[in-house]
Amino acid sequence: MNTHPDEPRPSVPMGSTPAPPLLLRATLITGASGALGGALARQLAAPGRALLLWGRDAARLAAVAADCRAAGSTVTVRQIDLADTTAMLVALAADDAILPIGDALLVAGQGDAVPAGAVVEPPEQVARLAMINLAAPAALAAALADHMAARGQGRILLVGSAAAFHSLPNAPAYAASKAGLTRFAQALRLAVAPLGVGVTLVSPGFIDWAGGGRPVPRLLLLPLDVAARRILVAFAAGKGHAIIPRRFAALRLLDRLLPGPIRAAILRRLRP
Ligand SMILES: NC(=O)c1ccc[n+]([C@@H]2O[C@H](COP(=O)([O-])OP(=O)(O)OC[C@H]3O[C@@H](n4cnc5c(N)ncnc54)[C@H](OP(=O)(O)O)[C@@H]3O)[C@@H](O)[C@H]2O)c1
Repeated sequence: MNTHPDEPRPSVPMGSTPAPPLLLRATLITGASGALGGALARQLAAPGRALLLWGRDAARLAAVAADCRAAGSTVTVRQIDLADTTAMLVALAADDAILPIGDALLVAGQGDAVPAGAVVEPPEQVARLAMINLAAPAALAAALADHMAARGQGRILLVGSAAAFHSLPNAPAYAASKAGLTRFAQALRLAVAPLGVGVTLVSPGFIDWAGGGRPVPRLLLLPLDVAARRILVAFAAGKGHAIIPRRFAALRLLDRLLPGPIRAAILRRLRP
């Protein structure tokens, strides 16, 4: 089991398996304990691939890790809260020093909306979503890009959301955090492409998974495995930005083209 003696306490590596010498690069997945991160990890798992799975929930992380090991991957699991920026960056440096991270899929995020009966979100929720959906993945991506640029290679995937394209009155902080991440990803891509580092932003619409439980028309729902597969195809192709499924690109265009008062009238109907 790998240990990281210089780790701060909130970041607890566990259940690690040493990487065999032939594995020269690790694939980091944040949010690996979640629906999309778990699906991505399971689809990537294969003999010869070293996976570094980050999340908070120990049981769900262990379940994903077990499936990935069964598929032949070497897996290291880290229990970490991305709200602790210092611990997060120390953990990243420690993991990258053990086995350089070649691919990083920054999937972790939170999707809260305005609580039922409320007009706006609680300010703590606004700050938390800005932290987990924007500040943490952007800081991680910056640190990763720095390590990767020094090595002249690496690929970073950032998971935004189609919500970034719309001023959603029922989820202002979520929409804003993903909009900020969208701009960050596109700017980072321009900055680090000449240094051999790829940055891909994916903006999923609604992904259908058991815990989702949202009243969304089936036409707008993408099955979890399909979403994960399309995301990996876009990442492997080195795309700058993939909107998944494409019909959300049409909704973005519509949002841009509609006269302001009509757009506002439609969006107001989304209030909780
Ligand atoms: N589901 C959708 O329809 C949809 C649509 C567009 C975009 N997305 C984006 O896709 C990503 C994954 O979403 P999902 O549907 O898979 O949701 P999910 O099942 O709730 O997974 C969220 C993941 O993020 C992790 N996470 C949340 N807060 C964290 C924190 N403070 N520190 C560390 N990890 C934290 C969770 O860890 P723990 O569970 O261990 O706490 C979990 O692994 C998110 O960025 C989300 O915004 C989802």
